[in-house]
Amino acid sequence: MDCKAFVEEQISQIRKTVGKATAINALSGGVDSSLVTVLGHRALGERLRTVFIDNDLMRESEPQRVVAMFADMGIPVELVDAKKEFLGALVGLTNPEEKRQAITDTFYSRVFGRLVKESGARFLMHGTILTDIEETVAGIKRQHNILSQLGIDTKEAYGYAVVEPLKTLRKDDVRAVCKFLELPAQVTNRIPFPGPALATRIVGEVTRERLATVRKATAIVEEELGGTGAFQYLAVLLKDRATGIRNNKREFGQIIVVRCIESTDARQATATELPWTTLNRLSERITTEVPDVSRCLYDLTPKPPATVEYI
Ligand code: XMP
Repeated sequence: MDCKAFVEEQISQIRKTVGKATAINALSGGVDSSLVTVLGHRALGERLRTVFIDNDLMRESEPQRVVAMFADMGIPVELVDAKKEFLGALVGLTNPEEKRQAITDTFYSRVFGRLVKESGARFLMHGTILTDIEETVAGIKRQHNILSQLGIDTKEAYGYAVVEPLKTLRKDDVRAVCKFLELPAQVTNRIPFPGPALATRIVGEVTRERLATVRKATAIVEEELGGTGAFQYLAVLLKDRATGIRNNKREFGQIIVVRCIESTDARQATATELPWTTLNRLSERITTEVPDVSRCLYDLTPKPPATVEYI
C-alpha cells in the first residue's frame, strides 16, 4: 500500500471532518489506537484530547510506559486512574462472560463514557480496522456501535460523530503505516494483548493480589520469550492450587500456566516447540520469583479446541 498517500489523505480528512471542533480518543498502547492517536495529533494538535485509562489490569508499568513513549513523540496523553472502578466491578465475579461484561460496561458506560460527555468533544476518534467491521458483520464479534456503548443517544446528542481513520486497513497495513511514520518498534511489533488485559488470564476472581501474581509471571514470560518470534506468549493464573515443597515445608501453592503460540491471525494456533532449556528456565524463575507459586505448566493445546486466552 501507499503509506504516504494514506497518511496525507487521512490527515486532510480528519481536519475537514472535525473543523474547528475538538475530539477525544482512548489510547490502549495497542497498534491500532496508537496509530489513531498519532494521525489525530498530526491533524488536530491540541484539539485532540487523548486519554489512557488505567484499569489496574495492565502489565507491569504499562500505563506509565505508554504515556512516556507518547510524551517522547511530543504527544500528551492524560493518564486516568480508574483502578478502583474496574476492580470494584469485578468483585465476586468468577464467570468468564460476566467478568468480560463487567469490564466492557465499566469502560464504556462509566469511565470513558463519562469522560467523553464531560469533555465537550463532539468527535470521537476510534481505531476500528477493516477486520473488526468484517467480523462484526459475520457475527464473530459483538456488534460494536461505539456511541451506543458509550451510552450516547445519537438522536439526543446530535452532533456526536465517530471518526475511524483505519477502517479500510487490515492489521498488516496498520503496521506498515506505523513503520512508515517511524513509530517506536514497541508499538509496531507489539504482540497482541487483549482489551480486558490480564483479566483474561486469571481463572476465577480478579483481585489485586491475584493480578500482582499474574503480572509478575507475565513479565518473566515476556522477558524469556521476547526473542522467540512467536505470535503470542502469556502467563495464566489458575484457580486450583497444588501441593509443593519449599524449604522442606509443604505448601499448597498457586499454579501458573505458560502459553506460547504460532499463528497468523489468532483464529487458529499451535503451541510453539520451545527448547527444553527455555521451558526449564521459565519454570525455575516463575516458581522462585513469583510469591506463592509452586508449580508451572506449559500448555500444548492448539486452537481449536482451546482458545488463546483462558477466559
Ligand atoms: P482467543 O482467546 O479468543 O483470542 O483465542 C484470539 C486473539 O484475540 C485476542 N483477544 C482479544 N483481543 N479484546 C481484544 O482486543 C478481547 O476481548 C480479546 N480476547 C482475546 C487474544 O489475545 C488472541 O490474540
